[in-house]
Amino acid sequence: MRIAFELSGEHPTLPRADALSALEAERVAIRAVSFTPEVLVVDALRPPRRALERVALSRYVDRVLALGPLSSVLRAASRLRLAGESFRVRAHGPFTPAEKRDLERRVGAAVPAGRVDLDRPDREFRLLQHGGDFLLGEVEHEVERSAMEARKVARRPFSMPISLHPKFARALVNLSRCPRGGALLDPFCGTGGIALEGARLGMRVFASDLQEKMVDGTSRALAHYGLKAQTFVADVGDVPLQVETVDAIATDPPYGRAASTRGEPPNSLYRRAFGAFRGLLRPGGHAAVVLPSDRAVAIGEEFLGLEEAHTLRVHKSLTRTFCAFVKPP
Ligand SMILES: C[S@@+](CC[C@H](N)C(=O)[O-])C[C@H]1O[C@@H](n2cnc3c(N)ncnc32)[C@H](O)[C@@H]1O
Repeated sequence: MRIAFELSGEHPTLPRADALSALEAERVAIRAVSFTPEVLVVDALRPPRRALERVALSRYVDRVLALGPLSSVLRAASRLRLAGESFRVRAHGPFTPAEKRDLERRVGAAVPAGRVDLDRPDREFRLLQHGGDFLLGEVEHEVERSAMEARKVARRPFSMPISLHPKFARALVNLSRCPRGGALLDPFCGTGGIALEGARLGMRVFASDLQEKMVDGTSRALAHYGLKAQTFVADVGDVPLQVETVDAIATDPPYGRAASTRGEPPNSLYRRAFGAFRGLLRPGGHAAVVLPSDRAVAIGEEFLGLEEAHTLRVHKSLTRTFCAFVKPP
């Protein structure tokens, strides 16, 4: 099955990595990958539904019906069998408003039977540009962007400005490749944003923090959404005393000056943290970690293999690099 992810464009590489790692986490083998900054097309060797439900940084995921010149899109549209169902065609891409209207009208007119319903169609088709080609797809999954927005820290019972936005917390969980039902650890849980996304995706979550008020806040946030995780107070170096091996780690350690490390220099904390991660991860397991500098990434590489890194500039004095490390099998 050929599928197209309409990437969110929030970063040049992270949305693609989010989609690919969600597929890998749910063991959906793929081949023939092609991508632009806006669209990722893959051939999935089995139905990818569970993987699609995890994706954070795409807007829609479409089943590809045609990829090529406009004539092949119109041919594919003419072969659709709608049996009286209503439908809508939406063009999305580098088109002017007039081009969009014209493309939507031409593709819609090629569909042999079925009623156009622009508000609540039974079937939804998307016309995209992919490289020099047109892509006609049918929406297979709409990413729950508004539900993630509703879980923003400001809307939760325990709020502090340190939290990752839920869409980035979920992308980090995907980068950890933790499968549904797998054991996922966040040993710097803060307000619990990563624990919430992991628990929502059906993982067995362990969430800990040095500060009791953070662990209480994380427990309250989980209870607010009817989700469960094992929460406890611990210095990152002591987590191996409380948890045995985990399948994956997804975490966002303190960044430095403003963050609370009880006076420990950040690089010393990262070194202790990665030492603990190497002991906690199962062989082949991934640690997805947000880090503030190249130096911090290099410390991670002293302990684990670096698979990928995506740097996001938050503001003048803060960059976050979303990294995926792996423990060799
Ligand atoms: C950047 S915040 C985590 C933010 C979190 N991702 C969220 O969504 O709220 C880092 C957290 O690390 C915790 N921390 C600092 N030093 C620690 C240590 N040695 N062991 C465990 N946690 C520590 C802090 O209390 C803080 O809550």
